[in-house]
Amino acid sequence: MIPSRLAIEEMEHWEAQMDKNTQRAMFSSKSNDWGTPQNFYDKLNNSFGPFTLDPCSDGQNNKTDNYFTKEQNGLSQDWSGNKVFMNPPYGRAIKDWLKKAYEEGQKPNTTVVCLIPARTDTKYWHDYVMKAQAVYFVKGRLKFGDSNNSAPFPSAVIVFTSALSPFGTIMGAMGRE
Ligand SMILES: C[S@@+](CC[C@H](N)C(=O)[O-])C[C@H]1O[C@@H](n2cnc3c(N)ncnc32)[C@H](O)[C@@H]1O
Repeated sequence: MIPSRLAIEEMEHWEAQMDKNTQRAMFSSKSNDWGTPQNFYDKLNNSFGPFTLDPCSDGQNNKTDNYFTKEQNGLSQDWSGNKVFMNPPYGRAIKDWLKKAYEEGQKPNTTVVCLIPARTDTKYWHDYVMKAQAVYFVKGRLKFGDSNNSAPFPSAVIVFTSALSPFGTIMGAMGRE
């Protein structure tokens, strides 16, 4: 469908209004590392954990005792046998992380829970997220890291696991608290 003139004008208005800090946060390479809010992590850990592996860490922001850093390259490691919590860098490589999460989630006794931006129009979303066992859309915006500001994008929690649901992909909503 072709967007109406009004919709385009609304979008242009929104873009013009977006504050400069938000723009910098959205487009700087540093902003690829969106640290999981601890209370949201605790909620996921209670629901899907206890998590045993964080494959995306700088060695200081790991959420579990067992983790991989960039130097170890979590993408090239074996995650099998773990309950994995994955909040990957949100740059171009996010597609590689979703591929990896999907593949590891096929292994026996392995569950991968991912916190990612809800970019439902991307190729990786359709290639991998649509094959997940569960997709939860977060209601409202998360405040990542130690920021007081809400993220400029919506988030989703994706569950890949070999424990297949007879109902196909489960879709649901999830609160921030
Ligand atoms: C979004 S942050 C998540 C940090 C933390 N695990 C959390 O959930 O708050 C992504 C992290 O992945 C790390 N990272 C980047 N490339 C990586 C790689 N190839 N292997 C492992 N970690 C990597 C970054 O240094 C960054 O700390």
